[in-house]
Amino acid sequence: MQIHQYDTVIVGAGGAGMRAAIESTQRSRTAVLTKLYPTRSHTGAAQGGMCAALANVEEDNWEWHTFDTVKGGDYLVDQDAAEIMCKEAIDAVLDLEKMGLPFSRTDQGRIDQRRFGGHSRNHGEAPVRRSCYAADRTGHMILQTLFQNCVKHGVEFFNEFYVLDLLINEGKTAGVVAYELATGEIHVFQAKAVVFASGGTGKMFKVTSNAHTLTGDGQAVALRRGLPLEDMEFFQFHPTGIWRMGILLTEGARGEGGILRNKDGERFMERYAPVMKDLASRDVCSRAIYSEIRAGRGCGPDGDHVYLDLTHLPPEQLDAKLPDITEFARTYLGIEPYTDPIPIQPTAHYAMGGIPTNVEGEVLRNNTDVVPGLYAAGEVACVSVHGANRLGTNSLLDINVFGRRAGIAAAAYSDKHDFVPLPENPGALVEALVEGLRNSTGTESVAKIRQELQESMDTNVSVYRTGKTLQQAVEDVAALKERFKNVSIADKGSRYNTDLLEAVELGNLLDLAEVLVVSALAREESRGGHYREDFPTRDDVKFMQHTMAYREVAEDGSTSIRLDYKPVVQTRYQPMERKY
Ligand code: FUM
Repeated sequence: MQIHQYDTVIVGAGGAGMRAAIESTQRSRTAVLTKLYPTRSHTGAAQGGMCAALANVEEDNWEWHTFDTVKGGDYLVDQDAAEIMCKEAIDAVLDLEKMGLPFSRTDQGRIDQRRFGGHSRNHGEAPVRRSCYAADRTGHMILQTLFQNCVKHGVEFFNEFYVLDLLINEGKTAGVVAYELATGEIHVFQAKAVVFASGGTGKMFKVTSNAHTLTGDGQAVALRRGLPLEDMEFFQFHPTGIWRMGILLTEGARGEGGILRNKDGERFMERYAPVMKDLASRDVCSRAIYSEIRAGRGCGPDGDHVYLDLTHLPPEQLDAKLPDITEFARTYLGIEPYTDPIPIQPTAHYAMGGIPTNVEGEVLRNNTDVVPGLYAAGEVACVSVHGANRLGTNSLLDINVFGRRAGIAAAAYSDKHDFVPLPENPGALVEALVEGLRNSTGTESVAKIRQELQESMDTNVSVYRTGKTLQQAVEDVAALKERFKNVSIADKGSRYNTDLLEAVELGNLLDLAEVLVVSALAREESRGGHYREDFPTRDDVKFMQHTMAYREVAEDGSTSIRLDYKPVVQTRYQPMERKY
């Protein structure tokens, strides 16, 4: 077992991790640990843009952006945090521009902006052009730009290092433990401050826009170490995934004028959202799509999808603004988007919940107290700026604003504090986890359990939920967790043992699915991305609060999820009925 010492360790090299690293490296000795190569991180899959009220192409201001964010999140957003994000958005975009990001430009050479769902002028009057973009490759450009700037600042990367444990001693952060893919060695990284920026959990669903690697490793590590997870029942389904595959087709397509149509060719969003139409928030659009399908107005022989119609847009506009997604339609569906509508369905896209933090990125151990030296930012975290439903393009914004803040705060903490002694035998938990899986003689297969998990989540915990479906999911996940104890892997070796790590990742997904379904079952209301057909209205009296889920370990070693609740921070906006 190797032991390393860094002032600050960042876990994850997507947008949030690299944005944090750029700050932290300039102030403290920093290591970034990633289970991938940095430029393979999932930020690269984000397409349509990063919003900021630059007002480059039409009137806008950060207050309208804040209002839209709070309303989009169905009033579960902590409004102080949203205000910070929307104010700092403008500098966040300009910082990226200065770092070299090749944004799409207006004829006057300014950063161009386009429409996106839920972003409006003057509190909902009409859609506004707020999303700054680089064609439909904005996430890719952000990731490359941040990586180049990390290289420029001499950030030290440990690539293909899986962080599997967090070390807390005397109540303070002491470091992390990682497994090196290339060698199978266990590494302890002693650190004064640790920033988790390890991304989302979408692979618990089958039809998802998320890459194979989005397995909630950071959230699972925190949960195992007794930390809470906030608002995990809120999972976003993006309206336009490629039918049956889930691959993202950016909302920017509707921002450019694309239209959702049912089998009769009707622009059905006019009935659900008379003002914003196809640019209503994602939860509203995804529910509308399934309502159409349920009413028999779905397309194709099985009536199980609707169309994204771009055929009325000039080919030059598609080529310039949406080159990737039009190519995806050709490649994956054999559809020519110049002339034919594209079959789509909602796809599991984004976890609104995660590790609770305050606006400096400090991780909360309960409703009020922080874990000294521990930070989180990006999709792994819950600040909470997205509440019950994130607005499109607020995630690339979130990673830049709160990644930067977490990097600065973590480095400042490292500067002022000494190393906390490592706990005795710091690698013990990881060794037991890895060796347990390697030596298992069980008969269960990782692929089979993962498939059954994803099928149950898609069937029972999707856009529409009921107490009955959620109870089914609770039972399914419990049964799968039981079977997981008996899982075995074929590769018993040390080098590049992806078999082993997929088993670890499945264990993480099962733990997080349990939190999600238990939290969802307890929330007997409908809000944002959590729609309960048996409780179809929002209940602000009982549920205007964040869910805080803790893993409890009984004396016999069995575990369960305990739920607590935390007040929502409201500053200027009183909850209203949400209409688009
Ligand atoms: O539709 C999109 O381009 C996705 C953006 C987002 O999730 O923010």
